[in-house]
Amino acid sequence: MVKKIFHLVLLATISFARWASAQDKTTSDIFALSEQQLKGMVAFLGDTNLSPRCTNHDGSIRLVRPNDWTSGFFPGCLWYQYEYSNDPYWRVQAEKHTRYIVREQFNGKTHDMGFKMYCSFGNGYRLTNNKEYKEILLQSAKTLITRYNPKVGCLRSWDHNADKWQFPVIIDNMMNLELLFWATRETGDSTYYRIAYNHALTTLKNHFRADFSSYHVIGYDTATGNVLQKHTHQGLHHESAWARGQAWGLYGFTMAFRETGDESFLEMATNIARYIINHQRLPVDGVPYWDFDDPSIPNAPRDASAAAVICSALFELSGYIENEKESFLKFAEKVFLSLSSAEYLAVQGTNNYFILKHSTGHMPKNDEIDVPIIYADYYFLEAALRREKK
Ligand code: GLY
Repeated sequence: MVKKIFHLVLLATISFARWASAQDKTTSDIFALSEQQLKGMVAFLGDTNLSPRCTNHDGSIRLVRPNDWTSGFFPGCLWYQYEYSNDPYWRVQAEKHTRYIVREQFNGKTHDMGFKMYCSFGNGYRLTNNKEYKEILLQSAKTLITRYNPKVGCLRSWDHNADKWQFPVIIDNMMNLELLFWATRETGDSTYYRIAYNHALTTLKNHFRADFSSYHVIGYDTATGNVLQKHTHQGLHHESAWARGQAWGLYGFTMAFRETGDESFLEMATNIARYIINHQRLPVDGVPYWDFDDPSIPNAPRDASAAAVICSALFELSGYIENEKESFLKFAEKVFLSLSSAEYLAVQGTNNYFILKHSTGHMPKNDEIDVPIIYADYYFLEAALRREKK
């Protein structure tokens, strides 16, 4: 019996390896496809200041206003296309769609400032050195730190559901710290750095379970700084491991190590990576189900966006470690090739001009299930660029 199972597993592994190598795409294949998909999207959008987020239930493209947390990803994709191609056409398009969200620099009602502004203006500044972008980014950082509470040691994530949480902090919030680290580098003012560093330390302390999976939402008491709730909002239940949350943690602590050199952040990123890679319910292609604890696995929907974030993070993390460098790189490469296969990659001119298929945004709300979502595309293009530099 044991022998039979061993043979079955071996066969499945060999056929996956054969299938994957037959499908192998190069980085230039990916950018050739994204060029066509993005061109289609640019033409579809015309002069609207709305941004494409995902495919709706009825098959149409969901467009969102600049204040939506995902509004920076489409301009970000355009910047990555420009970075890869150096074609001035993409710079013009990226500048146009970046400009649409400029007012978000003053929006203090959300923690999503980094997602919105660093993926758009941040990439734009990195690639063009446009001084106006720098000022916009600095104002964005100033606005973001108004959400910091020194008693808690964190930036507040959401203002909604005030009846549930006094001061909610979600694991996703790690992603917004990059803007603050950048602001200290640019200005020499350590305020931004200290806030980002404290936020990461508090998250390290409170967001993780013994197995290094993370909670989605930690609710804090603003008077004492104590933890009141350990919850989920987008996962299956409070004790489950929501796949994208694990991805944000991995990416966030890798970036926090890059920015601070704090070894405890590197250790956490490494532990999260091990948790994901060795998970028994991770499919053989490395693209996770939307929640690692969904009892309907293997029939649960996948989340290609989580895979794209994990892939990009691991290309970076593998550069910081010696022992597991090869295994992390190998896994990142496997995920990249899976996402580049016909199962996940759009056929040119289809998929509502998005690049990847099969992401899951908000399962408990019955929304964005097994559809293309813009942030999957953004982190996939980022992963392709990082892979190219390896
Ligand atoms: N930051 C929200 C999400 O990951 O869906």
